[in-house]
Amino acid sequence: MYKVYLLFPLILVACSQKKEDEMNVKNKYPEDVHSYARPNEVVMTHLDLDLDVNFEKKILAGEARIEYKASENAKYLILDTKDLKISSIWDQFGDEAQFTLGEEDKILGSELKIEILPNSDHLTIYYENDPSAEALQWLDPQQTADKKSPFLYTQSQAILARTWIPLQDSPGIRFTYSARVKVPEGMMALMSAENPQQKNENGIYEFNMVQPIPAYLMALAAGNMEFQSMSSRTGVYAEPTMMAKSAYELSDTEEMIKIAESLYGPYRWERYDIIVLPPSFPFGGMENPRLTFATPTIIAGDKSLVSLIAHELAHSWSGNLVTNATWNDFWINEGFTVYFELRIMEELYGRDYSEMLASLNQQDLKTEVQNFIDEGKAADTRLKLDLTGRNPDDGVTSVPYDKGYSFLRYVEELVGREKFDPFLKEYFDSHAFQTMTTEGFLAYMKENLFDKNNMDYPASEVEKWVYEPGIPESLPQIQSIRFQNVDRQLEAWTAGMDPVQLNTNDWSTHEWLHFIKNIPLNLDKNKFARLDQVFRFTDSNNAEILEVWFKKAIQFDYERAYPAMEEFLIHTGRRKFLIPLYTEMIKHDETRELAQSIYKKARPNYHFVSVSTIDELLKWNK
Ligand code: BES
Ligand code: ZN
Repeated sequence: MYKVYLLFPLILVACSQKKEDEMNVKNKYPEDVHSYARPNEVVMTHLDLDLDVNFEKKILAGEARIEYKASENAKYLILDTKDLKISSIWDQFGDEAQFTLGEEDKILGSELKIEILPNSDHLTIYYENDPSAEALQWLDPQQTADKKSPFLYTQSQAILARTWIPLQDSPGIRFTYSARVKVPEGMMALMSAENPQQKNENGIYEFNMVQPIPAYLMALAAGNMEFQSMSSRTGVYAEPTMMAKSAYELSDTEEMIKIAESLYGPYRWERYDIIVLPPSFPFGGMENPRLTFATPTIIAGDKSLVSLIAHELAHSWSGNLVTNATWNDFWINEGFTVYFELRIMEELYGRDYSEMLASLNQQDLKTEVQNFIDEGKAADTRLKLDLTGRNPDDGVTSVPYDKGYSFLRYVEELVGREKFDPFLKEYFDSHAFQTMTTEGFLAYMKENLFDKNNMDYPASEVEKWVYEPGIPESLPQIQSIRFQNVDRQLEAWTAGMDPVQLNTNDWSTHEWLHFIKNIPLNLDKNKFARLDQVFRFTDSNNAEILEVWFKKAIQFDYERAYPAMEEFLIHTGRRKFLIPLYTEMIKHDETRELAQSIYKKARPNYHFVSVSTIDELLKWNK
């Protein structure tokens, strides 16, 4: 109620242009329910880190200097922290600053409220993180590919940057950064910044990031890594034994960048390097600027899983350049990125290929949306989310990704690519290094795509796509000729044909995925086993194939696959693979115990992000 009163004086003076400008400044930052920061009062503009990486203690210790811009009369700089130990804070005049650390919220952490002086613009925080900091994973040598040296990596998205740096952890707030990181001798340190390509003697690395980024893109990795160049602006970082395979697998990267640039404008981050992480990395990839973090599970030997690189690369436009204003607008990052990813893949390998990817995604989307609806969680199937009081991680479902993609493809098909492509290019260009709300995008699209081209704006259909649960009937139809052939083979096989007689020549990973996913469950177990005898899925080296195959194996209680599945689950920490397999195991009496016994062995190898999800799923007692 009292907020309304506060607005009155503002409304009264709104007629003066100067005041109006001030009002706009005041409302510059959208409200973010996942951050304590009050950027309309004081906003950070640059971060300078000086950190010592201590593998024995699992601690990063040092200082964070925060530069900020304060509006007149602002008294406090408010930062996000979670489990950080703050030892002291110093103002720019050399005096200790007063601060309070608020009570800890389980999701958001604690508000760090620092008194600032008039006319001040920076301060320095001495701090260290907790060894259990949620963003960080400290790996023993045995948990790495080479098993020789420990390894550290961070995962800051969505709101975990605050567990290793005190900062304003909201996607709507951008800052530049510099850093000095000291690691043990013989290790290399890398960040989402300008990076070294060689190890140095003293283990001290300096970083600079001149493009402003939001906190969730802060990233650090340290370990025994090497670098191999792929083109003048791309290269791979990996542990020595992973290097050759990785460099081969990722050798299309430069071509992908060229395609992306030809679609939506110049790549604005100078270098694009990829680090192939140890297998516990909880995601497929993470679009840390200048340095994509990637799971080793995409190194399949045949480049069949490189669309993941197209995806992370695409984030260099959708996400890193034009950033979702809050986590409720997450589809602004991911929906656009899936769309962009598939456009890159279409250009690289042809429409047949990208339609297979789109079809696999659409199938998963339909299943997931139906599951949400059946579980009474229809609200989670809206594109525009409301994550108030919840962990933004709850919003990471196929909805922002594939419903987001489908919506954009619906618009693309409505207006045609000749209009849609220049529109998107202009969208990225005119909002570069800014944030975007769902409403902001819709208004921009109405004006610059529909009005400008004298086309009717499909208001009620847009409303359905963005604000209503479920999948609208205007869902684009995917035409995959290659999958139609797979369907025929599936039919022949279920009708009695022996697997050796099936026409599976030249099938790609994606055809196999479609085949396995669509194996009907009412078949005889021996028939299922015969499939494995012929095609050897259980022994596959392709993580995507293993995931769908193991899921079916659980459904058929095909025990022969269980040792391999256990191996896979112990070594792979990618959450996208873990969730379906553990979920399926606990559905069936035969495998419920197995889920617990595998998890017991595997849990120490997983990153916090995966641990917290699977703990909840299995009702694990810590
Ligand atoms: N930015 C995401 C990963 C992410 C999302 C981390 C939300 C934390 C919170 C990344 O770009 C991503 O989408 N990865 C996917 C790739 C896939 C869709 C090609 C993944 O990890 O599976
Ligand atoms: Zn993504």
